[in-house]
Amino acid sequence: MLLVKNRPTLNFHFNVLMVSVFHTVVFFTLICSCGAQPQLTGPSQPIVAVVGDDIILPCHLQPAEDASDLTVEWTRPDLDPRYVHVSDYGEELLSSEHPSYRERTSLFIDELKNGNISLKLSKVKPADEGKYRCFIPELSQESTVQLVVVAVSSPVIQTHNAVVLQCESKGWYPEPELLWLDAEGKILSAGPTETVRGPDDLYTVSSRVTVEKRHSNNIICRVQQRNINQIRETRIKVKDDFFSDQSKSSSSSGSSVPIFIIGLIVGVIFILAAVLFVRKWRKNKLENKKHNNDEETQRVIEYNTKSNESEKEPLLEVVGQTDSGHVTPETVENLNEMETQTANNVQTKE
Ligand SMILES: *[C@@H]1O[C@H](CO)[C@@H](O)[C@H](O)[C@H]1NC(C)=O
Repeated sequence: MLLVKNRPTLNFHFNVLMVSVFHTVVFFTLICSCGAQPQLTGPSQPIVAVVGDDIILPCHLQPAEDASDLTVEWTRPDLDPRYVHVSDYGEELLSSEHPSYRERTSLFIDELKNGNISLKLSKVKPADEGKYRCFIPELSQESTVQLVVVAVSSPVIQTHNAVVLQCESKGWYPEPELLWLDAEGKILSAGPTETVRGPDDLYTVSSRVTVEKRHSNNIICRVQQRNINQIRETRIKVKDDFFSDQSKSSSSSGSSVPIFIIGLIVGVIFILAAVLFVRKWRKNKLENKKHNNDEETQRVIEYNTKSNESEKEPLLEVVGQTDSGHVTPETVENLNEMETQTANNVQTKE
């Protein structure tokens, strides 16, 4: 009985052994073929890029193999045409690429020999967000990279009128949310958030809140995007007299424009009067001097320091003529005569 029973067991053990040997052989064969056939690998995590930045989408052959003589295709399957960058033997095939990527993509030529076919993408835009595929047709190898695009900006608080504050934050991606908080971090009830998407796909959010006296004296405008873990805050301190001045400022706010215009007119008149006064004063002074210094003519020659000294083009400011600023041909002649005489004096002055 025992013998009869043992035989199949021995057979069974032999079979198990053969199967394991077979598996081991297959396993090592696979390992070896893996070594011979390099694979494209990319990052397991998404690549996060800030709008406007230049970024690298990683992709390389593992184990390293020279890719300089291979075709490299970077595509985005959701686009038409789907080609982001195509390169044949290191030469870019511009004609087949999607227009929005033209002049913005490149491979690292020196890295191709190391099997590194990473793509450089310049001036990232929100529309660049998506799944990219790197592909080498000759090796039938591909890998993917997920690109996430973000943009953040700080909010700006303005006083809209006496009791209403307005907060605005321009240039977000993806769309953020806006919250008003008090000093304790409690959310204040505010008007609805207005969201505008610009032609560059960036979002501008704004909202207004009515300030009440019980809101201690700090108010915070917070703009946040949870998916990209970004928060930007601006705090404003509301002074106590903000409330007592309410009636005053609201009544005067209507007349602030006429007051500004009147101020402007008064200012212009004042400047004109000052100019006239200075002119008259200079004229009087010069007439006095003319009498005092018998025949001596008072002329000031300033040399244009910018022009070449050898050219000696004098910038003339003639003092003592009736019309200052006008240079008659005679005065120029006189001055040119004087020029040689006074040149030394002027040079020492400088
Ligand atoms: C590929 O090249 C880029 C650019 O030089 C570099 O940043 C990246 O680290 C390289 N990747 C590998 C795997 O060497």
